[in-house]
Amino acid sequence: MHDFQYRDGELHCERVALSRIAKEVGTPCYVYSHTTLVRHYRVFDGAFQSIPHIVAFAMKANSNVAILRLMAREGSGADIVSGGELYRALRAGIPPSKIVFAGVGKSWEEIRYALETDILMFNVESSDELRAIDDVAAEMGRRARVALRINPDIDPQTHPYISTGLKKSKFGISAARALDEFKLASSLQHTEVVGVHKHIGSQLTEVAPFVDALKKVVALVETLKGHGTDIRYINIGGGLGITYSDETPPLPKELAEALSPLIRDLKCVLIMEPGRVIAGNAGILMTRVLYTKEAEAKHFVIVDAAMNDLIRPSLYNAYHDILPVREVQRGNPVTVDVVGPVCESGDFLAKDRTMPEAKPGDLLAVMSAGAYGFTMASNYNSRPRVPEVLIREGEIHVIRRRETYDDLVRGEAIPEFLR
Ligand code: LLP
Repeated sequence: MHDFQYRDGELHCERVALSRIAKEVGTPCYVYSHTTLVRHYRVFDGAFQSIPHIVAFAMKANSNVAILRLMAREGSGADIVSGGELYRALRAGIPPSKIVFAGVGKSWEEIRYALETDILMFNVESSDELRAIDDVAAEMGRRARVALRINPDIDPQTHPYISTGLKKSKFGISAARALDEFKLASSLQHTEVVGVHKHIGSQLTEVAPFVDALKKVVALVETLKGHGTDIRYINIGGGLGITYSDETPPLPKELAEALSPLIRDLKCVLIMEPGRVIAGNAGILMTRVLYTKEAEAKHFVIVDAAMNDLIRPSLYNAYHDILPVREVQRGNPVTVDVVGPVCESGDFLAKDRTMPEAKPGDLLAVMSAGAYGFTMASNYNSRPRVPEVLIREGEIHVIRRRETYDDLVRGEAIPEFLR
């Protein structure tokens, strides 16, 4: 459920007409609904109220500091994957005691930064990394809290690029090696093993893979407890899917009902890292039609947003609904490719899409773009990145201004010999 609805023939975000936003900040732009973000967070968090838990918002989905501040206010922690994300999380006021740090390639600088700021724990993905963390902690006279990320070898039945829990994936430690890794971790002087982590993939639309993976983790936790390793946290990662088109993913409540009984008796704190389910349908990318073009084999709608603004269609062939901001009656729907100005054949927002005829000047809303939208945007083709606005109680808040041409060259330098 989200708060982008038609009123009197025009698409609104909450009470605000999208055309008003376009007039104020121009296009393309990302638009987020405060109401939707808050509701999604509360529904997710509330679903797990019967067990001790931490929601660590996966900020790779959306890392704007205003959105993170909103999450912090709601009580969220953060799942981070880089020093940059740690910086953003702290800037936004997310307490370090609720920050968990995942990723297969943490640098020494990032590890040092995370230890300095005393984050809750590292989710460790290899023995090399375990030793590196221990070394840095030793150097700093600290003890690092870690969870080992287990790869449960479960097929999440999602796009191969966003599935992370299979044997052949680069993520995590295989269940077979897990005990050895835990032994290694326990032998390290500056490391304290406090948890087990897993994340099997993103945009999951069934409960079963979550249950199967958690069962494997629970079995491991029990074995570890038998060996005297006291596991206090079980982190089940993120991955709950959303409706982009006709998917019917489980509700957070259904997930909670399936998972809670499995861990209730373990006396562990459950950590979850939802990203998409909170932010995905809380945001759209608004774009304006520049031209239409009737080529021999295809009809194109050329818009001012491109793959550098929203790469999901190009990268994963992902489906995003595209709605006209103003509902118009222009005869029968047409089948078109919606493409951007970038010089790549792969630059499209929709392919062979049947939609109402669009004309130059029309505004379109690319739906479900609140997660992995702006965070994956780039400056390819030297296109300034677009603004982000947050709508709340009828007001438009610019939470990231449009980049300027100056922003594009900031940090670049022409060396002396070229001057
Ligand atoms: N935790 C870990 C360790 C992750 O790797 C991820 C996502 C999440 C949590 C959050 O997953 P979510 O709840 O959002 O499904 N760019 C892709 C998605 C990549 C997801 C990577 N990891 C996309 O646009 O679909």
